[in-house]
Amino acid sequence: MKIAIIGSGHVGLVTGACFADLGNEVLCMDQDLNKIRLLSRGEIPFFEPGLEELVKKNTDKNRLQFTSNMEEAIQFSEIIFLCVGTPPKENGEADLSAIEHVAEAITPFLTEYRLIVEKSTVPVETGLYLHKMIKQNLKRNIKFDIASNPEFLREGSAVRDFFSPDRIVLGVESVRAKKLLLEVYKPFDVPIVITDIQSAEIIKHASNSFLAMKISFINLVSQICSKVGADIERVAEGMGADGRIGKSFLNAGIGFGGSCFPKDLAAFTRICEKLNVPSTLLKEVIEINEIQKINFVNLVRSKLKTVEGKNLAVLGLAFKPDTDDMRSAPAIDILTQLQAEGAKIKAYDPCAIDEAKKHIRDIKFSKNVYDACKGADAVLILTEWREFRDIDLKRLKKTLKDSLIIDGRNLYDPAEMKKNGFKYFSIGRN
Ligand code: UGA
Repeated sequence: MKIAIIGSGHVGLVTGACFADLGNEVLCMDQDLNKIRLLSRGEIPFFEPGLEELVKKNTDKNRLQFTSNMEEAIQFSEIIFLCVGTPPKENGEADLSAIEHVAEAITPFLTEYRLIVEKSTVPVETGLYLHKMIKQNLKRNIKFDIASNPEFLREGSAVRDFFSPDRIVLGVESVRAKKLLLEVYKPFDVPIVITDIQSAEIIKHASNSFLAMKISFINLVSQICSKVGADIERVAEGMGADGRIGKSFLNAGIGFGGSCFPKDLAAFTRICEKLNVPSTLLKEVIEINEIQKINFVNLVRSKLKTVEGKNLAVLGLAFKPDTDDMRSAPAIDILTQLQAEGAKIKAYDPCAIDEAKKHIRDIKFSKNVYDACKGADAVLILTEWREFRDIDLKRLKKTLKDSLIIDGRNLYDPAEMKKNGFKYFSIGRN
């Protein structure tokens, strides 16, 4: 099939490259000329495992191309996927200006039937709004459909997630749209949920909010564990073994970040408020996430007596492993607070240092774990990168001043750390 991707950021580029890899002809469009130039040279503007190879393979086969020309993209394609950003406004509401802009830009080039699919995460009723907007602006009576096909890709495993989804959600309101999207997703042998557009839009916001709720729930329980000396890992294991609960997203830590959960929770809360539906549950999820960061700073302060003048080694800055993304990373709030109290920070992250420089000031960066930890009063672990699991503990111990490790991601076994002579503190396990 011929597919146009409008907006070649994280979601758009992964989706486009993966669709191309399935044998479709894909044209990725972006108004950012620089980005298109980079992509045309095979350079990927962000880090996502496996994506560079996939883009190269499919551009070499001429199944994946790039353009900044909207007319070319619309004329080329049978299906148009909208993958532009929907960042939060000041009040938490999703900013739909990029979607509106694209809808306006597409309309003059609609000369025959096209299926326009929302891939971006949008508030419920955006499909209706888009339909109305395009219909009003069309000069001739051209047929088109809007559909919703939310993405469930995680940064750091987006390519893998694309090819092995748990489910595919199609919000469609015509036989033609349904047929086209089923054709696109024919290679997948997974449950396909076919529904109306509004329900599909809600599925995305509700899924992200639910996952964030699971994290805040387990973080709340971790606070109870800390107070009574219970072990959050065992509690999560015991809870997760119940098939109705499930074990994923029950890892306690310093809270969720990234470009999705915080933004989508805020947007979903605003939708509730607009529709006069109580949103206290969602607000509490956000609140617990904030408290988790404050608690971590409190833990650091309590173990060091004072952080003023202390040298802190920080391992991990990105909001999660396998990405360089620093958006809403817990590290930002935690380190900014510790700096405000007089701590000196030396940090190492395998991937996110360049991005971190844009978000946190006055940090020294190291090229590896051991350099970051040299002479430190304490080590703080803020992202659970795999390489931190394989640290040479003996070597680490020798580099530290006081063998103090405060682990915000529960990477190590407390008993093992004690045996190795560390003063080790983590979340909900001491
Ligand atoms: C999330 C969803 O998982 C995807 O399904 C969705 O498509 C995506 O948002 C989106 O809307 O585009 P992502 O933000 O990339 O994906 O990352 P996650 O793996 O979900 O992690 C989010 C945050 O939760 C991270 O900061 C992570 O460290 C934290 N987390 C996750 C925990 O603290 N505990 C857990 O058990 C799991």
